[in-house]
This record gives sequence, structure tokens and C-alpha cells, in this order.
Amino acid sequence: MSFSNWYNRTLNQIWGFVEDRTAMKKWALRPQPDFTFKPSYWTGSFVAVALAYQVVSGALLLLYYEPSTNSTLTACGQATGSLSSGPAAWCSTYFIIHSVPMGQLLLSSHLYGAYAMIFLMFVHFFRGYYVGVYKSPREFSWMVGTLLMVVTLGMGFTGYLLPYTQISYNATNVGIVLALRLPTVGPLLGPFILADGTAQGLLSRMFDAHVILLPLALAGLFYAHFALFESHGIAPPATSDPLQRRRFNEKEEKQHVPFIPHVLLYTMKWGLLYTGVLFGIAALWPWSLPTYVGNTAAAAVVTEPDWYFLWLFKLVDFAGVTPVIAIAISNVVLVYILFLPFLDRSKRTHPRDRPLWIFLATSLLGFFIVMTVWGGETPGVQITDPTIAYTIGPIFLVNAVVVALFHYRYYRSYQRRLAARRSLFAGSYPRGAPARSSAPAGAAEVKVVD
Ligand code: HEM
Repeated sequence: MSFSNWYNRTLNQIWGFVEDRTAMKKWALRPQPDFTFKPSYWTGSFVAVALAYQVVSGALLLLYYEPSTNSTLTACGQATGSLSSGPAAWCSTYFIIHSVPMGQLLLSSHLYGAYAMIFLMFVHFFRGYYVGVYKSPREFSWMVGTLLMVVTLGMGFTGYLLPYTQISYNATNVGIVLALRLPTVGPLLGPFILADGTAQGLLSRMFDAHVILLPLALAGLFYAHFALFESHGIAPPATSDPLQRRRFNEKEEKQHVPFIPHVLLYTMKWGLLYTGVLFGIAALWPWSLPTYVGNTAAAAVVTEPDWYFLWLFKLVDFAGVTPVIAIAISNVVLVYILFLPFLDRSKRTHPRDRPLWIFLATSLLGFFIVMTVWGGETPGVQITDPTIAYTIGPIFLVNAVVVALFHYRYYRSYQRRLAARRSLFAGSYPRGAPARSSAPAGAAEVKVVD
């Protein structure tokens, strides 16, 4: 027996043993069609991988981090060999960077990992929006996903304060002022966020939220999100055929592969690549700790949140936009996203059939990108009415024209293809049957519409 035969046989035997003893085949992880082995189908898994890295690196950081505003000499003194002192939260972060073995890599990769997770989550969200995965029967998957998005952004917000730098302190206060100005809800939220009103109270609340409350919410929501995914299976490709949404064709049905090991190994492959790239970036461009709260050098600090909140931060700079209006606008966007499955009721998922919703998605994306760049370029600079109009207006205008042109172009070519197929199968379709009915006998391999 050749070595490779022996090797493969041994591996199969080991795998068979593990599969048998863990009763893995009975696990709820359902097999997946093999046409889904493309990254675009697994964007959510990439977010989950990023989340897993955050959990592990966050747990390691917890070994050293001290959530206290008390002035301390120890950690800073140990690290610098000088007598400089600062708030313990900042000093313990300083200690992680300068004295813990691989500490800088750990902290930088946790921070960049958070950026990556949020970025991947936006990719997962927009991909789902464009290909219509929120449609029946996946409405609840979408709604739970929206809640996951809120909680994930909450993780970013609460984590930002923890190193206790002046810039993060200022930006957190801006966010809190926005929340507290909300009519009715604001005063109720106050005691929960501010605790006893001291800086220590605020830091403790942010810490509790970041390491206990929000992770618990994230775990519960992720469980629900994944359980829903398991029950409905992966969404089929976007199509103009409502019937195609609920079933795979016969050929595809036969080509399902077990979740373990196929999907698991596929995700692990991307997960390893993700971790490698993250480490590479963190090693090449390590994060440097800005100055601490109350330091004399802190007076010159420009208040700025992390990139994913820059759009909201910029919105408050607009003439006439009060904190209440800014919060109202963000809530309208949130409610829109949450209830999207019940607003877009057509059963067709292909973008060419949904010009209005594609226009709204593209406008949302354009608005988010422009506002983020703008917020980063000119944080805190007041913006006048005419500037708002000529910067934001074109986003909606250009999108409307582009989507209308694409719709016109692709809808017509699709109609032509449809007519060609009708004539190809002339006589096979029942008279008067809609174009979206199943393929005629003998044409099982032909997709009717796409
Ligand atoms: C922490 C954030 C999130 C995580 C960890 C996550 C994770 C996942 C995973 C693992 C899947 C299985 C399929 C795949 O890998 O793509 C999935 C599917 C799905 N997610 Fe998410 N998700 C998150 C946020 C969101 C958001 C913000 C939305 C939309 C508002 C969303 C909507 C959906 C939908 C509709 C599906 C089913 C898609 C399909 O069947 O192809 N998710 N998600």
C-alpha cells in the first residue's frame, strides 16, 4: 500500500472514530449546498470569526486591565521607570503595551479586530440587503441581525472609553449627551449610564457593559441568529422567481455536503487568513496610546469618535441639527432597517426587481461613506445649509439616476432573455402560465428565469 493510501485511510479512520463517538452526525448543523462555497455566502461566518477573536483577545486583556480612575504610580512607574502617575485605567493599558510580553500586539489586534468586525458586519448587512436575504421566511433572521448590529456598535462605544484617554473621554461624553437629550427616555437612561455622576461611575458602567452586559446580549442574539439560520438554511441566490426562493433545484439538492468538516474547514481557512492579516497589520502599525484624561497636554486634544460613529458625530455639526434631531434621524434609519422585510413585500429578490429598495440601500451606503470621510476630515467644524445641500444632495440624485438607468437596462435585457426562453420551450409551457413557473419536462437542468 502506498504511503498516501495508508495516510488517507488512517485519517478517515480517525475521523470516523471522532464522528461516531461525538455523535456529530446528529448535531443540528445542517448540510449545505456546495454552490455556496464562495465567500459572499459566508459573510456572517466571517463576522463570527472576528467576534471569536475579540472574545479571546478581550479575555487576555482583562488579566491586566484595571477599570479605575484612581491616580496610580505603580503600573506607569513600573513601565517607564519614572515616577509619572496617571489614572489606573490608562496606566494599566500603558503597562500592557510596554511591559506585557506581546502586549502591544494583543491590544492593537483587539482594537483593529473591533474595526474589522464592524466593517465585516456592514459588508454582511449590505450584501444581505442587495440580494434580498431578508425576504420570507428569513424576516426574523434579519431583525435579530439588526439587533446584533446595535449591540456590536454598543460594544465599540463602551470599549472606546476603557483606555481612559482624553480623546475617548471627550467623544464618549458627546455620545452620552446625545442619548440623555432624548425626550422621556434620556432622563430614564441617565442613572444607568452615569451611575453616581463621577468619572469613576461612568468608567465602571462602561466597563460592566463592555465585558458583561453586552457580551451576554451578543451571545443570546447570536444563538438566536444562528438557530434561525439553521432552521431556514442558507438563502438561495437572488432570483426573479419567487418559487425558486423556497427550494433548490434537484441537482443542487443532491450536492449538499456535511457542515462538519466541509463548512467548518472552509470557515477555518478564512478565519486563519483573517487572524494572520490582523496580526500582520497590528505588528506593522501598532496602536499608540493617546494622552490620558486630565493630563496638561490633553487640552489640545480634538474630540473624535471611532470611524463607525463619525457620521453621527458630523451630523451634529450641521446647521439646525440639534442632538435630538440627530438621534431621531439615526432612529428612523434603525427602524427602517429593522422593519425592511415588512416594507419590501414583493417576493422577488433579484436587485433588478427592486429599484426603489436598491436606491435606498445605495443612498444609505453613500451617505454613510461621505459623512464618515467628512467627519474624519473636519471633526467638530460647523457646516452651513448651502454646504449640506451641495454635499449630500448629489448622493441621492446620482443614485436615483444610476439605479433608474441600471433598472431600465437590465430589466429590458432580462425580458428579452425571458422571451427567448419562452420561444425555445414554445408549447412546453402550459398556455397562459406565468414565466416563473417550473421548467418544462425534459428541461430540468435549465433555470427558468436567471
Ligand atoms: C455580530 C453580527 C453578526 C453576526 C456574528 C452574524 C452571523 C451570521 C452567520 C454566521 C450567518 C450564517 C450565514 C453566513 O455565514 O452568512 C448569518 C446569516 C444571516 N444574517 Fe447575520 N450576523 C450578524 C449581523 C447581521 C446583521 C446586521 C444582519 C442584517 C440586519 C444579519 C442578517 C442575516 C441574515 C438575514 C442571515 C441569513 C442569510 C442567509 O441565509 O444567507 N446579520 N449571520
